[in-house]
Amino acid sequence: MNEVFQSLDMVLADAAAHLQRAARDRRSPMHVPVVGTADGDLRMMVLRDCAPDLGLLRFHTDARSAKAGVIADGAPVSVLAFDPEAKLQLRLRGMGRIEQQGPVADAAWAAATPYARRCYLAEAGPGTPADGPCSGLPTEVEGAKPDEAQLLPARDNFAVLLIEPERIDWLYLAHNGHRRAQFARGQDGWQGAWVVP
Ligand SMILES: Cc1cc2nc3c(=O)[nH]c(=O)nc-3n(C[C@H](O)[C@H](O)[C@H](O)COP(=O)(O)O)c2cc1C
Repeated sequence: MNEVFQSLDMVLADAAAHLQRAARDRRSPMHVPVVGTADGDLRMMVLRDCAPDLGLLRFHTDARSAKAGVIADGAPVSVLAFDPEAKLQLRLRGMGRIEQQGPVADAAWAAATPYARRCYLAEAGPGTPADGPCSGLPTEVEGAKPDEAQLLPARDNFAVLLIEPERIDWLYLAHNGHRRAQFARGQDGWQGAWVVP
């Protein structure tokens, strides 16, 4: 059988290419991975950025959300993504942190569209009990594009979730036999090893 992935370097480059594409292409099946927290909870989140060396992932969230409270200044976080066409599963683990202020959060906020920023106008945080079905948004911006003045209070609720992956598990499905590799990040970068799938 011809090996598609002949080296661990190829595998790592493949993982990085998939996640970088996922961050910029909303049609990528890895655009919305599952993010897990140490309390056992899971949720889907839009991947916003992936560093070329897989050293940092960025997501956006509401600073009042349950996950933001669990992760806070630093906590273990996992990321799970699957691309059925590429037959590729990626699992990443590392430390996550929530940043509400600072250059990364400011740049992410500035680059977000008005509709994306509108989510953070909800008057009560995600998961707050409600009297009935509701969006939580002020009625004047429901179904409407908010203007910059209306969006001002939303910035206080916006945060970035930054994850520094320390472990990567790469699994490629193939009829003739799957392939699997694991990587750990050390002082000299990623160290990889093949493992039995
Ligand atoms: C397709 C999809 C994309 C989502 N993207 C995000 C996101 O980028 N950020 C986010 O905080 N929640 C996102 N959510 C909502 C979360 O999955 C989750 O319901 C919400 O953040 C509350 O999670 P928590 O209670 O764990 O904080 C998304 C949900 C779906 C279905």
